[in-house]
Amino acid sequence: MIEDLKKLEVETQNDLESVTDKKTLEALKIKILGRKGLFASLAGRMGEVPAPDKPAAGQELNRVKRILEESFKEKEASFSAVSPETKSLDATMPGTFALPGGIHPLTQVTLDVTRIFERLGFAVVDGPEVETEYTNFEALNIPLDHPSRDSFDTFYLDNGKLLRSQTSTVQIRVMEKRKPPLKIIAPGKVYRPDATDATHSFMFHQIEGLMVDEGARFSDLKGILLAFANEFFGAGTKLRFRPHFFPFTEPSAEIDLWSPTRGWLEILGAGMVHPNVLRGVKIDPEKFTGFAFGMGVERVAMLKYGVEDIRMFFENDIRFLKQF
Ligand code: DAH
Repeated sequence: MIEDLKKLEVETQNDLESVTDKKTLEALKIKILGRKGLFASLAGRMGEVPAPDKPAAGQELNRVKRILEESFKEKEASFSAVSPETKSLDATMPGTFALPGGIHPLTQVTLDVTRIFERLGFAVVDGPEVETEYTNFEALNIPLDHPSRDSFDTFYLDNGKLLRSQTSTVQIRVMEKRKPPLKIIAPGKVYRPDATDATHSFMFHQIEGLMVDEGARFSDLKGILLAFANEFFGAGTKLRFRPHFFPFTEPSAEIDLWSPTRGWLEILGAGMVHPNVLRGVKIDPEKFTGFAFGMGVERVAMLKYGVEDIRMFFENDIRFLKQF
């Protein structure tokens, strides 16, 4: 009986292959799987099978039944998929191809950087691009007569607001709402009315970091940035901290990254949050200390991938974008 079942299976499969229309398919189905079909008559012979062989025969019966049912189903589906429209389909006509999209290199760098900081315990936050003078300058301890408040260095809007010129604004937004311990990272766009050239764009991206806690120290800043640099640029990456001035941090530093081919290159600004900034958001600088840093995404991306001209990122040239 097992032999007969196998034979039925093979023969039916062969028959099915040569079926080209629905009617023949239906007839074949009745002949094989119908109530009085070949399969049923084989199943009827179960009684004749000697008791010890019954389990094997039963198993084979089930297997063949399932396979036959599936084969018919597939064949039926293949017919129903052919509507009158698709029947006149010209299979020789060239198809339309959709190019698979990709993640923009700046987005990719932002994701890579923020993921590293997330693993170090920083939460990703967002802030508005249209800002107040207060958040972009005053709250960051940038006095009225500071040169960067000159209208040439900031896009002012008619309503007295401005396009933020740095993501440091997010430090203020976060500290106004939440109190320490705080560990945040804030990626986003910033705007400056610079003439466009190979290293300047009127819009670019920054990633801001801030940690405020009891006993947060400059050495914590160093450790965090070194951990980041080694993960992002590779093990053995060296950083150099150069004294610098930023109004919202004291002490402040510019940090350079060592590249074997190009030497020291500046990648970010950082420092200990200025007590005036903490006081402004009602955090007691006697109790809490903090560090902050800000890096340029384009600069980091250019360094990592050897891109020589910042404009490449914004021209939407597929030959450039495809390489990432
Ligand atoms: N906001 C600065 C800039 O745009 C970068 C920066 C420097 C951010 C020092 C910081 C910092 O948080 O501590 O040039």
